[in-house]
Amino acid sequence: MSTQPPERPRRNFYGRFKGKTLKPSQKTYLSEDLAALSPGAVDWDSNPDRTPIDLDALFGGKPVWLEVGFGGGEHLVHQAQRNPDIGIIGAEPFINGVAMLLGKIRRAKVSNLAVHPGDVRDLFDVLPDASISRAFLLYPDPWPKKRHHRRRFVTPEHLEPLARVLKPGAIFRVATDIPDYVRQTLEEVPRAGFEWLAEGPEDWRKPWDDWISTRYEQKALREGRTPHYLTFRRNG
Ligand SMILES: C[S@@+](CC[C@H](N)C(=O)[O-])C[C@H]1O[C@@H](n2cnc3c(N)ncnc32)[C@H](O)[C@@H]1O
Repeated sequence: MSTQPPERPRRNFYGRFKGKTLKPSQKTYLSEDLAALSPGAVDWDSNPDRTPIDLDALFGGKPVWLEVGFGGGEHLVHQAQRNPDIGIIGAEPFINGVAMLLGKIRRAKVSNLAVHPGDVRDLFDVLPDASISRAFLLYPDPWPKKRHHRRRFVTPEHLEPLARVLKPGAIFRVATDIPDYVRQTLEEVPRAGFEWLAEGPEDWRKPWDDWISTRYEQKALREGRTPHYLTFRRNG
C-alpha cells in the first residue's frame, strides 16, 4: 500500500519578506553562513513528506528553545550566549532581519543556534511532538484592525501546532505593547492548553530577569506604549 505525502496547505503570509537593499556585508553573511545554520529539511520542496527533523543530531541532545519572529535577532543571540547548554532555533521570514542576525552571530561567535529563514508554520510541521522546552513570541505583529485580528499569531492556526511541539511543562513567553493583543493572548493561549502563571500585576509589568530589550520594544517605549510580559506553562 502506498502512502501519499501530505497535501501542502495554503498559508497566507501577510508580513514582509524584504525591506531596503541589503548591505554587501549582509549579502555575504547570507551566502556564506545561512546554509550551515539550517535546522534541517524544513521547506516543502526539500521535505514533501514532512519528515520530522532530528533535533538530537542538530544540538547533541541539548534542550531546545524556539523564538518566533526574532526580528533583528538581539534576543535570540543574547539567549544563546547566556545559555550555552541549550540549542535555540529562530524563525523569521524577513530576510533583512535574518541578515542582521547573521552579523550578530559572527560577532558573538555562538554556535548553539539554528535559523529557519521563513514562516514558523513550516517549521512547526517538521518539529517532533513535545520536543521544545521553551518558546518566545516577542512583539508579534499587532494587526490592530479588528478585521485583521485573525492574522495574529495568537490564533488556533499557530497555537495548536505550537502546543503540539512544546513539552508538557514548557514555558511560553509573550511580550506585547498592544492592550488588545494582551486580551486576545489571555483568551486564546489558555484555550490551546496553557496556564498563565501571573500571580499579580508585577508579573506582567516587570520584564523577565534574563530579558534584553528588542528593537521593537525600544520603538514601543519611544512612542509611549507599555510593554506587557506574559508567561504561560504548557499543560500536561
Ligand atoms: C513586530 S516584529 C518584532 C520583531 C522582534 N521580535 C522584536 O521584538 O524586535 C514581528 C516579527 O514577526 C515576524 N513574523 C510574522 N509572522 C511570522 C511567521 N509566521 N513566522 C515567523 N515570523 C513571523 C515578522 O517578520 C516580524 O519580524
